This record gives sequence, C-alpha cells and structure tokens, in this order.
Amino acid sequence: MKKTILTLALMLGNILTGWCDSSLNILPAPQKIVMGEGTFVVKKGLAIVSTDANDFSANFLQDKLEEVFDFPITLTRQSVNEGFIRFETDKSLPEEGYRLDVTAKGITIVSATPAGKYYGVQTLLQLFPSEVYSGEHLRLKEYPMEVVTVEDAPRFGYRGFMLDVSRTFFELDYLKRYIDWMSFHKLNKLHLHLTDDNGWRIEIKKYPELTRKGAWRGKNELIPPTYLSGSEKYGGYYTQKEMKELITYAQQRNVMIIPEFDLPGHALSSTAVFGNVTCGTHTDKPSACGEFDNVWCVGKESNYRIIEDIIKELADLFPSPYINIGGDEVVFDYWAQCDECQALMKKEGYKDVEELHGHFVRRMEDIIVKHGKVMMGWDDIQDHGGLRPSSTVVAWRSQKKGLESIKKGQPTVMQTGEYLYLDMKYTPAERGHSWAAIIPLERIYSYEPYQDLQLTPEEEKLLIGVQAGLWTELMQFPPRFAEYQIFPRLCALSEIGWSAKEKKNYADFYGRMVNKHYDRLYAMGIAFRVEPPKVVYEDAQLKVTPPYPSAVVRYTLDGTEPMATSNVCHGTIITDAPEKFRFSTFFNRNLKSIAVGAENVELHRYLTPEVSVETDIELLANNKLETITSYNFNRMIRSKTRVKAGQTLTYTFKEPVACKTIHVPTGYAALPFYGVSDGYVEYSYDGVNFIKGEDFYRYHAYIRNPEAPVKAVRIVITDTNDGWSCCFQNLKIE
Ligand code: ACM
Ligand code: ZN
Repeated sequence: MKKTILTLALMLGNILTGWCDSSLNILPAPQKIVMGEGTFVVKKGLAIVSTDANDFSANFLQDKLEEVFDFPITLTRQSVNEGFIRFETDKSLPEEGYRLDVTAKGITIVSATPAGKYYGVQTLLQLFPSEVYSGEHLRLKEYPMEVVTVEDAPRFGYRGFMLDVSRTFFELDYLKRYIDWMSFHKLNKLHLHLTDDNGWRIEIKKYPELTRKGAWRGKNELIPPTYLSGSEKYGGYYTQKEMKELITYAQQRNVMIIPEFDLPGHALSSTAVFGNVTCGTHTDKPSACGEFDNVWCVGKESNYRIIEDIIKELADLFPSPYINIGGDEVVFDYWAQCDECQALMKKEGYKDVEELHGHFVRRMEDIIVKHGKVMMGWDDIQDHGGLRPSSTVVAWRSQKKGLESIKKGQPTVMQTGEYLYLDMKYTPAERGHSWAAIIPLERIYSYEPYQDLQLTPEEEKLLIGVQAGLWTELMQFPPRFAEYQIFPRLCALSEIGWSAKEKKNYADFYGRMVNKHYDRLYAMGIAFRVEPPKVVYEDAQLKVTPPYPSAVVRYTLDGTEPMATSNVCHGTIITDAPEKFRFSTFFNRNLKSIAVGAENVELHRYLTPEVSVETDIELLANNKLETITSYNFNRMIRSKTRVKAGQTLTYTFKEPVACKTIHVPTGYAALPFYGVSDGYVEYSYDGVNFIKGEDFYRYHAYIRNPEAPVKAVRIVITDTNDGWSCCFQNLKIE
C-alpha cells in the first residue's frame, strides 16, 4: 500500500512540478531534461546520417531501430533536412557526455568522443518501445516522439562491475551479453576476477598447465570439487584469441576489461599447478573460503620470475591501463614458518610477518609498472603502505578502508561490500550470502560513495568511481541465478555512478523501473529478480500487497510454488488455513518472484521428537552432537576434515515417530556449502534393520511417506565431500 501511495504521489509530483525525468523514464537519470513543444514522427524515410559509414554507434542504432519499424532505415553520409538522426562532434562537451536534441524535424546527438556518441544512442533507444532490445519485430509504421533536449555527462569516470569467473565459469558469448547489459546502463569498466582457488580462466602461453590443469575441478582433477560441482569435471577458460575478441566487443561499447590475477592468496589454481611456489609449510587455519596451501611464498625469488612472465602476457593482451593483483585475505601462517620468508624478513628488517604482504605487493607494483601498467588491487594492498601514487585501490571491506586508501593518496574505487556485493541476499528468505549485509534494491540505491568520508576537495578527486561485484560461489545453481542477483541492482548502481547526486531519488528511480525499465530488462532477455508480494493474515483474511500496483500476483492453496497458470490474486482471500497459501509476483509468463506465504503465519510445523545422534566422523573441537538434536534450524556441527566413504551419522528417536516426510539437510544451515555430496539416507522402523532411501542431491536428502513410525535415520557417506569440512544439521520432520 505504501508503495502505491508513493507512486501516486510521484506521478502527481510530476504533473505539478514539471519534473520530467520520470515521464521519459530515462535510466540512469540524466543531468538535464528540457521538454519542448510538439513531436517528431519517425516514419518511412528515416535516415541515420553519419560521415563515417563504419561508425559503430550509427550501425548499432540502425540495427536496433530496424527491430521495431516496418521499413528499412538508411545509413547515409549525405545531409538530410527532415526525418534524420544525425551525429555532431563538439569537443567542448565532457568526456563521455552527450547532448540529445529531438526536434520536429529530426534528432541530433552531439558528443566529444565515441563514448559520448554511444551513450547518446543509449538514451535515444530508451525513448523507443522496449522491443528495440528484444529483436521482436513490432512493424511500427509510425512512432511519435516528444520534442526534448537531454544534456548529460557522468558523475564518475569509473563505473564498474566485477565478475568472478573463477568460481563459476561464464562462456564467452554470455560475457558479451553482460557487456551489452552494462553498456546499456552506461557502465564502463568490467573487472574480471580471472583467477582464484577454484579455477584459472585465462590462457597463458608460457604456462599452458595453468589452463590445462588449473581451469578444471572435480574428483580426479588437480583442483578439488567445490561449490556443488560434485563429481562433475567443472571449469573452462578463455584463450587469448577469445579474450581479444571480447576486448574488441567491449571497446566498441565503451567498456574496458580489467584483468585480475589474485595473489598471493586465493591462488590454489596456480599454486597447485606449479607445486613448488608455496612455502611448503602447514597450518590448520583454512583461508576465508576454506582452502589450504593456496598462498605463494614471498621469499622465493624464482616466484617473481613466474609471476612476471604471467603479468607480461596479461599486459600484452589487455589494453586496460590497469592490472589487478587482488592481494586480499592472505593467511600469513605459511610465511611465519617458512625459512625463505623468515630470511627475507630478517634481511629487510621486518618485525611482523604481515610486512611481507607489503613487500610482496610492492614487488608486484614494480613488475606491473615495468610492463607499462598501473597496479590495482583490493584494499588489503594499502595496509602496509609504500605504494606508488598511481596504484589504485578497490575498497571492499568498508568505507573506512576506502578512506584510509584515499588518505594515503591512492586513487580509489568504492566497492563497499555492505552495499555493493551482489552475492548478498535481497531479503532474508532468499538465496545468497548475508555476511556483508542483506541488500534490497533500496539499500544499494541509497549508497553514496562519499558517505562517512571526510575529505578535502583534493582528496575527493582520488575517489575515482564505484563498482558492484558478483562473487560466484553460489551461482552454479539455479540456472541464471547470477542475473537474478545482478538485476535490478545494477540499474541502481548505474545511477550511483552516472547520475548527479541531486538527481538521485529512490521513489523516482523506482517509478522509472516500474513504468518502463523492467520492460527493457525483459526485452534485453535478462532473468532479473521480481519482487514478491507482501502478505499478512489479519481478520481471517490473507491481505496481499503487490510490489507495485500493476504487478500480477498468482497463488496456490496447497503449499506449492505458483506457476504461470495459477490463479491471479486480487487483494484479499478469506481462509482459515492461511499456512497453505503461497504467492508469487509474475513478470510476463516466465519471470516470477520467490514464493511467499503470510509473513505472520508459521508455514511449516515441524515435529520435535526427542532424538540422540551418534557418528564415527570426527568433529571440530567444541562441536557437540547435541546441537543437532535441538531442532534449531540455524545451527549445525562440522567435521574436522573431509568425510570418507563408509562413515555414518545416525539420528535415533526415543520413540518411533509417525510422520510424512523427513528432510535431511546437510551443509551450512543457510548456504549450500560443505554438505554431503556423495551419500544416501537410510531409515529404520526398529532401530536395527535399515531401508535404503534417497541419495543426497545438492546436499539434501528426503525420506518420504514411510510406512510405519520411524525409529532411526542414518546418513551414509559414499565418497568425500566438496570442501575441507562437512556440516550436519537438525532433521526437519513433517
Ligand atoms: C574480497 O571479497 N575478498 C575482495
Ligand atoms: Zn615462504
């Protein structure tokens, strides 16, 4: 209801104040829109005038417009007096800026650079029906456009998106679509996280093993299975030839591809390949992502030669002025016990092992500068100081880390995790991480890069821009979940990076999303997140509020997920069984929200019979079996190492339990990590004789419709699990 009122107020506001951004629904909001009098009617004979027949933006525009009109659109070098779209150059305009004039006679896009021209074209496309993006032939014979002038330029020069292609591999053609989607939103930097523990993704000619072995994970591969890849051989990589093709594709759309080779930690995909580049020492402490032996030794001089060989190839391949060396989340224990690292500490007079990190980073900087590039890295790279003024920091841990970096004089890009990590959940009920924050659309939109920073005007210039990032541990399932996590949040990011601070207004932004931009995303073919309705149970009625007034909500009354054929809900439903109802918002027929029930009704009633647990699996210290007899579904216990074939864990009920379904979840309580990848459940009516049940699938198994009350449930492991530890949870019994 609140949103309905907001949207109404917004629409009234537009009429009363003449604020026009909403009526054209341009996104990201431009600097200035001035509506004129009259219309320009696009009709047969429309010509795109360009002095350069090979101009990318002119050809791109021609292709897009031919999608919607019933007549061919010519591209000509001759000047045309009426019915034209023409380009002009004005070197006084800002870099990447443009002016778009729609007059009664035709349309002019003025810019200083090809980037500005491309963005002028992007804004122009937004004035047409959203089918310009879809390739559906509307066969329009005429299309009237309001006379208007748009003057526009970006707030920040660096407007980025970081994509982790290591944990989940994205095919080349799919990356091209991301470049399209970014550039439609006027984002201009694609930071590719090309290497991490779980996969090496770029061909290095001097070290072919990096991709021959390091690009693959699986049961018999060098890199162990993880993140649900299970027994599958999972992976892939980009050849240098393919990467060149991608770079050209991106350049045409004003997107710079910045490569990241994450060092010295997060590096199992290279340390495992080279074997002798680690210290060879040991620790019981896993890295932040649960890996071991994934840190390069700082003391071995030969390591720097290998790294330089790799960086040289990256520097030759990528035209980007930046090479990102990561530098984040290093476990220092290896260095503390390594003779070569200790000798280096002594030689350099370092007191603290962490100073070796600063040493390593400065060595990387020397190599990168030698090859004509600027070093970039996560904010960890500035922890120990001494960087060249050009070295550029991506602040991820906090605004404070960004502040530190700026105060040290480093150009800084803000990617503050608690606003800009797109692997975080939108709401508590959805899939995703939550360690940095829960990030609904309104939260990311609210992000202001300068928030909590007290900077002088000189220091302000060091904040060069903003990027959002997608880590992909959770993206292999369900299909296209990455798109769900990215959109519509990337639309909010585009406005953070592009639009003037005074132009930012969530209600206005949301109005543009609802009025037109969701249609554009749909036409672009993006599987974006659809917002679920809000449902409460009051006065014996389910009261259903769609996310916006025109949204279609469908429901079921048997606890299953609504489908495109389910009934449409109009407002309220009278019922005395509210726990059975599930609701989803639909966008056209094939996109829908998660299914929700009433937020104030308990949707599942689980049984809680007294139970005891036994196992021959060794648990981590302080992990107690009682934890998984409490029916607290947020809790779990962890094994000390990977589990092995033949090990078991048995839940025995004090009295046999009459039930319909027993759900046996494993892994983290809220995330698909560290669960049983190979195993099955069995169950018993007498505690002695067991019947084999289902195999585990994605860490879960079920016992369905037992024929008698169940006395015991057993997990039987048939092979090692994904990840270094395996977690067990409370049973869910219905
Ligand atoms: C990071 O999230 N480790 C940069
Ligand atoms: Zn070492």
